[in-house]
Amino acid sequence: MSVLSGKKILLGITAGIAAYKSANLVRLFIKLGAEVKVMMTPASKDFITPLTLSTLSKNPVHSSFYDTENENELWNNHVELGLWADYVVIAPATANTLSKMANGTCDNLVLATYLSAKCPVYFAPAMDLDMYKHSSTKENLQKLQSFGNVMIPATSGELASGLVGEGRMAEPEDIVAFIESDILSKLPLRGKKVLITAGPTYEAIDPVRFIGNHSSGKMGFEIAKQAANLGAEVFLVTGPTHQEVKHSFIKRIDVISAEEMYNASHEYFNEVDIAILSAAVADYKPKNIAHQKIKKKDATLSIELVPTKDILASLGKIKKQQFLVGFALETDNEIENASAKLTRKNLDMIVLNSLQDKGAGFATNTNKITIIDINLNITEFDLKSKTAVAKDIINEILQKLDA
Ligand code: CTP
Repeated sequence: MSVLSGKKILLGITAGIAAYKSANLVRLFIKLGAEVKVMMTPASKDFITPLTLSTLSKNPVHSSFYDTENENELWNNHVELGLWADYVVIAPATANTLSKMANGTCDNLVLATYLSAKCPVYFAPAMDLDMYKHSSTKENLQKLQSFGNVMIPATSGELASGLVGEGRMAEPEDIVAFIESDILSKLPLRGKKVLITAGPTYEAIDPVRFIGNHSSGKMGFEIAKQAANLGAEVFLVTGPTHQEVKHSFIKRIDVISAEEMYNASHEYFNEVDIAILSAAVADYKPKNIAHQKIKKKDATLSIELVPTKDILASLGKIKKQQFLVGFALETDNEIENASAKLTRKNLDMIVLNSLQDKGAGFATNTNKITIIDINLNITEFDLKSKTAVAKDIINEILQKLDA
């Protein structure tokens, strides 16, 4: 999955011959799952039609502050457009537009939106070789980069003038690849490996029966997605669940029993930077697994149970660089119990779910958590979707790692 999947891209097109390539750029962004809106300078419409771009982007294309063709003369709100975007991409960016961007000129919709946008801005210069080499252009390019805008360098080749040299806009495929790798390199968990356990475990009684629990695995899967979206390489060790995950940064390892989860977690633990154990692991398992299906014979049946291995406690004993996070599901004396668990299992952080909170815990789409850190600082969170809770958990870890 591309880092651009689900992202909102605002493409600004200015009046250069390379504008004809912008159609392909829109297609490529859409293919990667991004949502695209296009804005154009008035003069760029001589190079490519708004109809082409609105058809490809499936969104109206704006080129002035108000729509003269629209009977309501709708104001095209540049502030709204700028705030809508996750990324602004100006491609092609002509010498004229670059100069205006560098100096705060604001005489068209593209420039006003650029000035209003708070998100990262990429620009792909396109001009003739002597214009590209000119000291004023160089100065503008430097100035724009010093503002935090990211330049996608022009390449060398045959130019519209017939001259050959530097100044050709990067090819759409290269622009997309450049933006993807730039975003990836800046993700806060880039280069980090994360182990996550999720779901229930099933402890076999006989070939057809088991002891299990109602954990859906949703919380762990959401944490895995969030970590992967922030650039981490994730090892997701999961018990039986209907959850699905499609993310190229997530390696899913399916297990059934606590013993299997223990082995898989220990296999990956040495190489990870962060381990988040959200699985609802069975605390006990049948001492003996019957080889044949147990027949109904007596009025009562006793199954002798023995403790499973505590994965979290075991990782706490061997941890070195790893930031270790556990979960606690409590019904009473929540803070005391969870804090004691944190200390006993040698954790860096514990996520507490209280069964006294409505909407928290198993098999719901929401959760309400309290986070306790190694210094026993307590942070309470509101009831939120499990996706939002996953973001909170990862953000807390990032803050603690930075501190
Ligand atoms: N855990 C584990 N291996 C086990 C049991 C639990 O890794 N065999 C982990 C869970 O993934 C969770 C935390 O330990 O992160 C929960 O701790 P635990 O002491 O098992 O909590 P409870 O099951 O609530 O224990 P208790 O009944 O003692 O409160």
